[in-house]
Amino acid sequence: MSFFPIEQAPARLNRSELAVPGSQPQMFEKAAASKADVIFLDLEDAVAPDEKAQARKNIIKALNEIDWGRKTMSLRINGLDTHYMYRDVVDVVEQAGERLDLIMIPKVGTAADVYAVDMLVTQIEDAKGYKKRIGFEHIIETALGMQNISEIAAASKRNESLHFGVADYAASTRARTTIIGGVNEKYSVLTDKDAGGDRQIHWGDMWHYALSRMVVAARANGLRPIDGPFGDFSDPEGYKAAAYRAAVLGCEGKWAIHPSQISLANEVMSPSTAEVERAQKILDAMAKAEAEGKGAVSLDGRLIDYASIRQAEVLVQKARQIAA
Ligand code: GLV
Ligand code: MG
Repeated sequence: MSFFPIEQAPARLNRSELAVPGSQPQMFEKAAASKADVIFLDLEDAVAPDEKAQARKNIIKALNEIDWGRKTMSLRINGLDTHYMYRDVVDVVEQAGERLDLIMIPKVGTAADVYAVDMLVTQIEDAKGYKKRIGFEHIIETALGMQNISEIAAASKRNESLHFGVADYAASTRARTTIIGGVNEKYSVLTDKDAGGDRQIHWGDMWHYALSRMVVAARANGLRPIDGPFGDFSDPEGYKAAAYRAAVLGCEGKWAIHPSQISLANEVMSPSTAEVERAQKILDAMAKAEAEGKGAVSLDGRLIDYASIRQAEVLVQKARQIAA
């Protein structure tokens, strides 16, 4: 390992993150009773301009009055380029800050954006005498945010997670799509005409680079990488495929923009029994190898070594965290 220490964000379960518009208070009780690990109450893009002020009031009331159980509660504020944002932070943190665990900053573009919100939140927490520190979730959803992702990820001790906001990212990069997440048939290759046989189309994942880049920036700074929305809530199979490919890359959660996506996210983002058993088998085999003075052995015809221990521990520790 490098001599450089990576401080890990508080270990929170973040398999599913349910988006709930602050302008729809009739949805709050159902959200509180759901199996979502994290809920973000939204003041940004799911709330129309005329409803922002009322949505803020709804959220303050809901944070103070509804029993959210052990859920991690987050607030998606408006962007720093709007005149709503300062009031989102001041009103909600002043009036309901004790039940707020996280603030989600959308369209974050530079480390200075993070600094600005940190300064504001710090003043409010100090003035109110809050003991708990509110953490930050950042949505990487603009070209600028992606360009500055490493600095953003390191910009505050409050940082806990990075989220891939695929819809705004598509808009910002001028990608030719109008769907939220998912695949695009035009992002594909056609097998060569000289290869013989019928030509095949191989679909690609147009979000691969962005997601991988975000995973690296998050992990290099001890943060959770979380995949964002999948808009077609009538396609559970598509959702699961998208979630699996994010999980395989290292993401530990995905947004649910509809309650039906919560259980899908929880399922995909929890290591399966088979995966945990396989990981445990590796740990057992390596413990035996070490006792025999060996650093690398073969297990089921494959080489395993000390790196295999670290890989296996990721899965076993995640399973333990879920079971706790
Ligand atoms: C989320 O905010 C997105 O833009 O996808
Ligand atoms: Mg967005």
